[in-house]
Amino acid sequence: MSETKIKISNLKKAFGKKVVLDGVNLDVRKGESLVVIGGSGTGKSVLIKCIQGLMTPEQGSILVDEKEVVGISQQEKEKLHSQMGMLFQGGALFDSLTVWENVAFGLLEN
Ligand SMILES: Nc1ncnc2c1ncn2[C@@H]1O[C@H](COP(=O)(O)OP(=O)(O)OP(=O)(O)O)[C@@H](O)[C@H]1O
Ligand SMILES: [Mg+2]
Repeated sequence: MSETKIKISNLKKAFGKKVVLDGVNLDVRKGESLVVIGGSGTGKSVLIKCIQGLMTPEQGSILVDEKEVVGISQQEKEKLHSQMGMLFQGGALFDSLTVWENVAFGLLEN
């Protein structure tokens, strides 16, 4: 069984003429904690959104548990999301819900 959790190869993402990810290669091993550091607007959030399938890159491959994320169906995406956690950068909580309802939101919805 592979020891790689996430494998990114030659990932390219642009918005119009603005190239944000230009051939990113990255391997994350199972159990590894990885911090991506960079200045504001350098593409950290875009990278994570591509890994989740929320944004589609123009080129490249993203394997999560050896399965390709780029171009997956909505059904496969929902399965992928059920196995992932994501804390958004700002305004991350529903103020109409309690703390535990916020924490359990994904589990309750599914
Ligand atoms: N949906 C979008 N449409 C157009 N441009 C976008 C979009 N999302 C991000 N960008 C652009 O992509 C670049 C990278 O943005 P991103 O949000 O990934 O930066 P970041 O590294 O997460 O910054 P920060 O540290 O401020 O969170 C920025 O120039 C941003 O304006
Ligand atoms: Mg960001």
